[in-house]
Amino acid sequence: MRDAILEGAHRVLEKNDIGSMVKAGPALYPHQWSWDAAFVSVGLAHRSVTRAATEWHTILNAQWATGMFPHIVFTDTPGYFPGFDVWGTASAGARPHGQKTSGICQPPVHGLCLELVQQIGRAAGGSEAAAAEQLISLALPRLAAWHDWLARARDRTGLGVLEIHHGWESGMDNSPRFDTFYDRIEVSEPRSLPRTDLMIADSSERPTDQEYQRYLFLIDQMRSVHFDDDLVAQTVSFRCGDIFATACLALSADAVARMAEDAGDDELARTERARAERARAAVASSVDPVTGLCRDYDITMGAWVDVATIAGFSMLICGGDERAVARQREILLGERWMGHPANRWRLPGSVSPADPAYRPRQYWRGPTWPIMNWFFAHAAMLRGDRELAMLLRSEGLAQLSDLAFGEYYDPALGDPLGSRDQSWSAMAAIDWLVSDRWR
Ligand code: SER
Repeated sequence: MRDAILEGAHRVLEKNDIGSMVKAGPALYPHQWSWDAAFVSVGLAHRSVTRAATEWHTILNAQWATGMFPHIVFTDTPGYFPGFDVWGTASAGARPHGQKTSGICQPPVHGLCLELVQQIGRAAGGSEAAAAEQLISLALPRLAAWHDWLARARDRTGLGVLEIHHGWESGMDNSPRFDTFYDRIEVSEPRSLPRTDLMIADSSERPTDQEYQRYLFLIDQMRSVHFDDDLVAQTVSFRCGDIFATACLALSADAVARMAEDAGDDELARTERARAERARAAVASSVDPVTGLCRDYDITMGAWVDVATIAGFSMLICGGDERAVARQREILLGERWMGHPANRWRLPGSVSPADPAYRPRQYWRGPTWPIMNWFFAHAAMLRGDRELAMLLRSEGLAQLSDLAFGEYYDPALGDPLGSRDQSWSAMAAIDWLVSDRWR
């Protein structure tokens, strides 16, 4: 089975590869998504660090003058909504000339992924190692600029929690995490929605039209101020302190600090270490003493948001306070989450099956996401929790043995949902099967 999964996973990346980028999914996502691409570069590096570097060049070339990595870099492939024209970033002064991009960002997993590419290159040696070193020297100052932008434009509350302005910036679009934020948005003039996604995926597995109206409303608000960071913060109706993105930043800043130290840039290493500490402290401060889970922050209302989703386990991503980590680990392994009797595999869903909000097939409202399984496993390994890491790996590989490489899965029935041949699901399989970290 191992060989079949590995072969199938490599085939997915080859099939989705259009030369300058690997499409996030073959039909549903025919462009480069920022955090997808960072994760996917790890899978590519296991075959060719040079090809992984190309993926990074596409990410880096699209970086805005502000330092932001935009969440989508568009190809000319039609059939995705909302496309470049809908975004209206043509009028955004910070967008690099000639690059078609969206105007928002995604979770900062770039640093932690780049470090894995470096490790893979070094282990391979020869020209692979040389390609990795070349990439690192090009990318390090760009990652520093990205993190500087996050600190400047997205850490305005004083809490150290990264601020997002759209559910899409979290990568977890329609998670119940954001229900109270979206409920406050009244769309007085609904627009026509060419939902190309519904021609490819089952509508019951995707966000609703009502949700899309609000998604588009927020784009319009940002577009009206040309995606200027200060004006967006004053204008947009959605201001959420995203605890999961903050945990991602802690891990990425750790990784950038290590790469900087290795490259002899002590000043950058110091800056990034301080950044990681600030993010980690913010994640710890979000823990609800009653539930033990991390919470997002409602910036408009000035209050923590008490909704239990997979993002609540952000301490297991970034580590830190040992008691809080141990408690989240116990809850995650317990019968409301991985150990829920209805689960086909011992894997965490995006929402607990015991929660009334649980929808086993609807995007971020219940399904299990292979990339999350990989990410939590990777983070557990970094924290030295080999037992959890190896459990997630073996269950995650069992899930992917259907060779569908689903974007997400029904936790109970085990059906693949959304896009098939999703690039980052293939990457999870490749890394689990090939990397020495998992031996
Ligand atoms: N995840 C969004 C989509 O489904 C875009 O970022 O299209």
